[in-house]
Amino acid sequence: MEDLPEVIVRNSADDICRTVAEQVVRVAKTSITKRGQFSMFLAGGSTPRPMYKLLATAFETTIQWDRVHLFWGDERYVPLDDPDSNFRMADEAFISAVDIPEANVHPVNVEADSVEEAASSYENTIRGTLDTSPESDVPVCDVMLLGLGTDGHTASLFPHSPLLHEKEKLVAAVPDPPERHDHPRITTTFPLINHARYVWFLVTGERKRSTLKSILQGTPSVEEFPAAGVQPKGDLTWCLDDAAHPKNSR
Ligand code: 6PG
Repeated sequence: MEDLPEVIVRNSADDICRTVAEQVVRVAKTSITKRGQFSMFLAGGSTPRPMYKLLATAFETTIQWDRVHLFWGDERYVPLDDPDSNFRMADEAFISAVDIPEANVHPVNVEADSVEEAASSYENTIRGTLDTSPESDVPVCDVMLLGLGTDGHTASLFPHSPLLHEKEKLVAAVPDPPERHDHPRITTTFPLINHARYVWFLVTGERKRSTLKSILQGTPSVEEFPAAGVQPKGDLTWCLDDAAHPKNSR
């Protein structure tokens, strides 16, 4: 697939979600042809839900679901049926509606006795499913879909977290996220994120614009804006709606 531009902007959140869903279809087709499978880490939060819904409706028949493997870039340490679960959001939006084998859906083991155990068991799941990079022994996924918090966090990598300097663990526990995030979290770390073939940020809404301006047009420190630490060997694309786009004069 031709390299995507670094920033894609569409008029509305629905339009950029449709563009990202089209990208998923394109990369899935290429990956399945080349390697027999397509692996994608899903983002949580609310932004990606309309895109996920398109995967189960407009694009459902264009993806070979039996060749797809789904993971989560981060998860809240809550039961999978909890309203705050990122698994539940994606399951309701598309997974339960498409013909993907249950064995290909890899939620975080939130039943583990501790958030630390959930994180280490998830790293084992990822290592046991994905091929690793020959140079670094790090699993390589096709697509890592990420969101952006207004504080510059991505996945559950929050400002000033020691995890921003993690070099070994691919998945880590966040037992005490910043106060407004009310659950312990499990998060992928930069070593895993930055090995993805494609990293796509999907960011919409005016409330994200100033954060995006700092990241895309400033010289952001990773401590202040963890999303700036996403510097993959593969392709990085910011998928934005007009409201979030910092170039927007409004
Ligand atoms: C989570 C997400 C998180 C999210 C951002 C943006 O578990 O909350 O993974 O990183 O992507 O906080 O969230 P919204 O899409 O709801 O703005």
